[in-house]
Amino acid sequence: MAQPSDTRYLVAPGGTLRGRLRVPGDKSISHRSIMLAAIAEGETRISGFLEGADALATLNAFRRMGVRIEGPDGGEVRVQGVGLRGLRAPDGPLDMGNSGTSMRLLSGLLAGQSFPVTLVGDASLSKRPMRRVTEPLAQMGARIGTTEGGTAPLDLVPVERLTGLDYLMPVASAQVKSSLLLAGLYAEGETCVTEPAPTRDHTERMLTTFGYSVRRHAAKVCLTGGGRLTGCRLTIPADISSAAFFLVGASIAPGSDLILEGVGINQTRVGVINILRAMGGDIELMDRRTAGGEPVADIRVRHARLRGIRIPVDQVPLAIDELPVLFIAAACAEGETILTGAEELRVKESDRIQVMADGLAKLGVCAEPLPDGMRIFGGSLGSTSGPDAGDAPWIDAHGDHRIAMSFAIAALRASGPVAIRDCANVETSFPGFVELAATAGLSIQATRG
Ligand code: S3P
Repeated sequence: MAQPSDTRYLVAPGGTLRGRLRVPGDKSISHRSIMLAAIAEGETRISGFLEGADALATLNAFRRMGVRIEGPDGGEVRVQGVGLRGLRAPDGPLDMGNSGTSMRLLSGLLAGQSFPVTLVGDASLSKRPMRRVTEPLAQMGARIGTTEGGTAPLDLVPVERLTGLDYLMPVASAQVKSSLLLAGLYAEGETCVTEPAPTRDHTERMLTTFGYSVRRHAAKVCLTGGGRLTGCRLTIPADISSAAFFLVGASIAPGSDLILEGVGINQTRVGVINILRAMGGDIELMDRRTAGGEPVADIRVRHARLRGIRIPVDQVPLAIDELPVLFIAAACAEGETILTGAEELRVKESDRIQVMADGLAKLGVCAEPLPDGMRIFGGSLGSTSGPDAGDAPWIDAHGDHRIAMSFAIAALRASGPVAIRDCANVETSFPGFVELAATAGLSIQATRG
């Protein structure tokens, strides 16, 4: 697993993004593809799988529970499903690395197994809140031990039975919703989850693709335990959360004109497009189609003059992972951008409000962190060797992949080089980022050690 502090980026200022790119496969969908394929009956063939550390943590966990998995090889994976009751006890704790999705979804999927299992994670994951899943799972009858602070390691103890639950989520979280639905596969009766705002619906869609019946009535999604999943063929779209770095990069860099191929444009994920368009972004969706039960398009993005906006609160869950790079767009826009209603950013891989505010300050941007968001005054970007750099002439990504990539993109409009430390975890979601960015026109020198 990637260690903090071992990779630094030095990004040359300026440049233009041009050409055609395909970013790696969707992380959320990659996790779910392995989970559902493992507990399905028969073989599932997956293409477009994300070979990043997070999705590989999920894949390795199932291998350790006795599932035969070939690959990944160029994004191709073949899983021999063992059925709902076919998983075996692993020979020790399962390491989820940096991946909140692995830990929260697996706590639900494994809560109803007949063997004990312990889920552990790296330093960042071990600080993240887990009660949001362990408490409703306990209401279903699960027994899951946490630290006193409600964090990992999670100790799952087998129970006689789980029972269905009708749960109103206090936070709009696809991880919580998915965890409960996956536990619901093993529960007696019906499990329903009501979301306070729409969140990504990949679990529901994929369950349907595996032949499992999922019912939705407005904000409520329900399934009945004890059914079966049937192995199938899945094609995973390119990840809009990875495409987001290039959507913002091309929008802010004069002369840019870029096409991003085969990107997932599920309505629950397109907040970044909606927000950039509201800021004046020039984004066109071309050749819309469906792949693996998900809507996909090629996205053309050209440079545009962006203006600051008040980000609509209903877009926040739809752009939750893209908000750091949208802060970079805001820093390059004319006028003020205000984000509120995004307190969840404080409990991601880092405190993304504080860490982004600190990095923006180093670039001389006036950014005021709010308890649940940020106020950013757009203008020009300095550089980490400039007067705001202070004692440390770099931006600290705090081991957060999306922070590292966001500031790499900021260099397109910086007045001098941008240095970023603690970037190794870019591998968790976007292996090959430095090389792919170079083909589009961004010059990043990565140093390890
Ligand atoms: C994810 C859901 C979101 C998102 C995360 C992936 C998922 O988390 O931030 O990167 O795959 O379900 P929350 O459920 O905490 O909002």
